[in-house]
Amino acid sequence: MSSVFPRKFVWGCATSAYQIEGSPLADGAGPSIWHRFVHTPGRVNNGDTGDIACDHYHRFKEDVALMKRLGMQAYRFSLSWSRILPEGVGRVNQAGLDFYSRLVDELLANEIEPLVTLHHWDLPAALDDAGGWLNRQSSVWFSDYARIVFAALDGRVKKWTTLNEPWVITDGGYLYGALAPGHKNLFEAPIASRNLMRAHGAAVRAYREIGAHEIGLVVNIEPKYAASGRPEDMAATRRATAYMNEQYLDPAILGTTPPELKEIFGKAWIDWSRSDLQEIRQPIDFVGVNYYTRAVTRHDEQAWPVKASPVRQEHVTYTETDWEVYPQGLTDTLTWVKARYGDTPIYITENGAAFFDPPVAENGRVHDPLRTNYLRTHLLAVHKAIEAGVNIKGYMVWSLLDNLEWSLGFSKRFGIVHVNFENQVRTPKDSALYYSRVIESHGKVLDEPL
Ligand code: BGC
Repeated sequence: MSSVFPRKFVWGCATSAYQIEGSPLADGAGPSIWHRFVHTPGRVNNGDTGDIACDHYHRFKEDVALMKRLGMQAYRFSLSWSRILPEGVGRVNQAGLDFYSRLVDELLANEIEPLVTLHHWDLPAALDDAGGWLNRQSSVWFSDYARIVFAALDGRVKKWTTLNEPWVITDGGYLYGALAPGHKNLFEAPIASRNLMRAHGAAVRAYREIGAHEIGLVVNIEPKYAASGRPEDMAATRRATAYMNEQYLDPAILGTTPPELKEIFGKAWIDWSRSDLQEIRQPIDFVGVNYYTRAVTRHDEQAWPVKASPVRQEHVTYTETDWEVYPQGLTDTLTWVKARYGDTPIYITENGAAFFDPPVAENGRVHDPLRTNYLRTHLLAVHKAIEAGVNIKGYMVWSLLDNLEWSLGFSKRFGIVHVNFENQVRTPKDSALYYSRVIESHGKVLDEPL
C-alpha cells in the first residue's frame, strides 16, 4: 500500500502569537492575560515569559523564509487581540494590525497560505478586568474584534478559525487554574464554555456578512478508551469523552450539549438556552482538529469533577509532556469526527511532540529521531483515515519553532526547528528535514522505514 496523499492536500505548520512573537507591548499594544500571568510569581516554570520568546515580531521575514525553504504550503498562526485593540474593544491600534498585514503579505509573496486563528488564549487583560469569558458581553467584544480583522485581511486570508481549543481555555483557565487567567472554580467553567461558544457563533455570523471565504473552529480531541469493560469504567469513559471531546463540537455542529455535563458539574451546570444554542450552531466550513495523545480511562472517585483518570500504559513511549505516543488514536479521532459530526472537511491544525533534544551538533544538525518517528507514524495514521473516507484537507505540524509552552515555559520543545533562546538562531531539526521530504514527495517518503 502506498501512502501518497491527494495532490491538493495542504502541508504546513502552526504557531500562536503569545508563544513566539515577543515584544508583547510594542508599538502601542495592550497587555493580554498571558502577559499578566507570566509576570505573576510562581505561575510559570522557571519564571519564563513571552517578553522575547522567539522574537518573531522582529524576525518574521526570516521565519517566513525558513518556512519557504522547508517547503511549507500553509502557515497557521494567531493574532494577538490586544495588539490590535489594546483595550480589547474600541480604539484600533493601527500599528498592531499592520504587523499582521505585513506578515500575511510576506507569506503570500512566498506562496505560503495563511490560516489565521482569531483567538489562541491571549485575551486582552482589560477585558479580563471586565469579567473575561464570564461576561456575556464577551461575544460582542469578540465579534467586534473579528469584524475589524476580517475587514482588513479577508481576501488575502482565505481560511480563518475562531477559537483555538475552547476546552483548554475553560479547563486550564477557569476550572483548574494552571493557565491564564488562573481561576479554579467549578461554577465558572460552564459559564466560560457557553460564552466562548456564543463568541464563536457571533464571529461566524459576522464573517458571513463581511468575509467571502472559509471559517471554522479548532478543538483538541483526545480519544478515550475504557480501561476495562466494567460498567463504572465505561461510564467514566463516556463522561470524559463528553467533557473533553463533545462539549464544544456538539453545540457548534449539532446545536446540543452532551447530557453527561450535567452529571459532571452538578449544581454548577447551567442549561444553555434555545436561543443561545441557535446562535452558536452556525454552519462552518471546516473543523480544525488538534491531536496529541489518547487516554485509557478508568473510574476514579477522587478525580474532580469528571471522576475519570487516565491509566498509564506500559512498554510504550511517552513524550516530555507525559503524553502517550499513540498514532492509531489520530485515525480513530478523524473517523469519529466524521461519524458523529458528518462530512465537514477537516484540517489537522496541530499535531506534534515535545521530546528532549540534544544540543545542535558540530555539523549543524539536531538529531530528534523520536519526533521524526512521531511525525511519520501520525502522518501514516492520517493517510489511513483518508483511505477510510474521511475528508481531510491538510495537516499542520505543531510547531514550527521551539517556543513558550505556556506555564511550562521554555522547558518543553515542540519545534521541528530548534531555537537557541540566547541568540535566536534557528536550526531545522532532522524532523524538519524529514517533513520537508514528505511534503516534496506528497507523502511517498513515509513508505520508507526510518
Ligand atoms: C495548544 C498549543 C500548545 C500545544 C502543546 C495545544 O493545546 O494549542 O498552544 O503549545 O497544545 O501543548
